[in-house]
Amino acid sequence: MSDEEKLIKIPITQLVKFSDSFAGAEIHLSVAGKFVRLNYATDEFLDILRRLQQKEVEQVYIRQSEVKVIMKEIQESLSARKFYQSKTTVEEKVEVLDESMKTVKNIINQIGVDSETVTLLRLVNVRTMSILQESPGLYAFIKRFKKNCSEEFLRAMLTSYVLALMVDKFPWRSESVKEKGAMASLLCDLLLDKKDFEILRKWEKDGGELPEHIRNHPFEIAEKLRQKRDLIPFETITIIEQHHEMPDGSGFPDGINGGRINQLSAIFIVSQRFIELLCDTNFDYEMRFLIVGRLQKKYQGKSFEKAMEALTSIVR
Ligand SMILES: [Fe+2]
Repeated sequence: MSDEEKLIKIPITQLVKFSDSFAGAEIHLSVAGKFVRLNYATDEFLDILRRLQQKEVEQVYIRQSEVKVIMKEIQESLSARKFYQSKTTVEEKVEVLDESMKTVKNIINQIGVDSETVTLLRLVNVRTMSILQESPGLYAFIKRFKKNCSEEFLRAMLTSYVLALMVDKFPWRSESVKEKGAMASLLCDLLLDKKDFEILRKWEKDGGELPEHIRNHPFEIAEKLRQKRDLIPFETITIIEQHHEMPDGSGFPDGINGGRINQLSAIFIVSQRFIELLCDTNFDYEMRFLIVGRLQKKYQGKSFEKAMEALTSIVR
């Protein structure tokens, strides 16, 4: 079977969203380990999908060549003409970006990283950053978008937002540095699913043993991205590798100490942790000073102290 004919798992919601491009596409279901083709060209594509949704089926399989069509559709919906000139609200734009990111995640997990995926990723990143730049402040942003996107995407956006404000406190600040950091926030947990996040959050609170695949996720996603190192900045890959490391060497995957964690990674780690803790309080912004105080105790050492200074000055 050629790559193009391989079957790729896809959420039905995505097919419904882009249904115009898929009339006549083959839909397969996995039943007891075997693929069953559900439709033929004469069948009503959307009817089949809706019936499956009624039976609470969430995923189907389509050919890899059809997945490429979805990617083109998404790219088109993120083109400057469509994204900025249509009458869609900012909330709808965030929804489109969230959906796009879910597709990219799905594709990278099943097919891997190729030039087309990276192009799409960069587009999602640039459009996300433009929305963040227009936002009047962190809390206003949380209030506005909390209900419009998945928690995962919200966390990534908020991390990018805080990171950008922190980077502004350094003499080497630039849009390109912020873009590299924002890209890392979209990509760093690409290999984790909902259950993994729950395990990870429990571990952060209680400690104990972490499953091997969670321990290795920074390293594994960095390895995948390195295959396209000409398209993904090495700073982004370094942040991803280091995003769970701690100044005292108690982090993972390598347990390196603070001296080996560079300034941009330290800023990323602090901004991501700040957002995680804020999220744990269900975004109770009143708790922000308490969170900063807690982080201050944990994140010490040269690059982390500078990162904490920057965080303190932006959290007012
Ligand atoms: Fe992670």
